[in-house]
Amino acid sequence: MNAHIAATGALPSLTFADWMGQIQSGMEGVLDRFLAPTSVVPARLHEAMRYTAMDGGKRVRPLLVFAAGEVFDTPRALLERAAAAVEMIHVYSLVHDDMPCMDDDALRRGKPTVHVQYDEATALLVGDALQAQAFETLSAPLEAEPGHGDSSLPLRQLRMLQLLAQAAGSVGMCGGQAIDLASVGMTLSLAELEQMHRLKTGALLRAAVLLGALGGKALDREESAALDEYARAIGLAFQVVDDILDATADSATLGKTAGKDAADNKPTYVSILGLAESQALAERLRGDAHRALAAFGEKARRLRELADLIVQRKT
Ligand code: IPE
Ligand code: IPE
Ligand code: MG
Ligand code: MG
Ligand code: MG
Repeated sequence: MNAHIAATGALPSLTFADWMGQIQSGMEGVLDRFLAPTSVVPARLHEAMRYTAMDGGKRVRPLLVFAAGEVFDTPRALLERAAAAVEMIHVYSLVHDDMPCMDDDALRRGKPTVHVQYDEATALLVGDALQAQAFETLSAPLEAEPGHGDSSLPLRQLRMLQLLAQAAGSVGMCGGQAIDLASVGMTLSLAELEQMHRLKTGALLRAAVLLGALGGKALDREESAALDEYARAIGLAFQVVDDILDATADSATLGKTAGKDAADNKPTYVSILGLAESQALAERLRGDAHRALAAFGEKARRLRELADLIVQRKT
């Protein structure tokens, strides 16, 4: 397992599948470095954190961090921390999302959910502790890398911390989850549905893209706007496709319980727009994402490929 993910920009000839595979396997080493070992007390909590965070999931958020980092030459050490931090927040959100007080799911990433494998209190604490670990990971002082020896590193980290906190909190992921729970059995307008999806899922995906960029060379106003447009498009597309897969794929493929949204009477893109319209919307958002990247040229190749993956994925 790679202890460090290879420097960005150094892998231009890799196929997308190989590039993705390298980051996905490299993330195991990165997460291993930042999560407490099971030899540290309390061992059971640390074991449960590793049970849910390691060796699982598509790692889409870390992939977005690294892809954006390629465009803005962000130092590798900062990308690894940002990728680990955003993945920890994501994993915490999944652990809590699956608890009986929320979606009450028994299967996640092909394994029993944390409250099933351990217990509810442990699942609550795993989420709490992963969230805290995310901010510790991103805030730790960093040595400037050769070629990036500038004094703005702490300031960049501060802006990244603020961005991640906002995306995770009540005007981001947590806010979206609150709307999701309050919407059970309701018919939302398209605008309300979009707002819920942009918050509960879009906010963290957008943050992943912007984190990868914020750690690198300064963005001008047009670049910021274009990147944000890309990030918003793929962020919404991701949950539209999640809704489609919930209705069309099977549990074995997804590694989580399929058909759960309809069973729980949740408003989704599929329940409100239907399957064909939802697929058409995801395609339109893919087009929006590609158009937003036009000015970045070849350096944004991985971001383009990730927009395709997010819309065309089968899991
Ligand atoms: C699932 O996210 C929950 C949503 C935010 C839609 P992912 O589909 O990224 O889950 P993993 O990380 O691959 O397990
Ligand atoms: C979850 O949305 C979003 C977050 C975890 C923040 P879902 O409830 O649709 O996610 P899955 O389908 O259980 O992965
Ligand atoms: Mg949910
Ligand atoms: Mg759920
Ligand atoms: Mg879902």
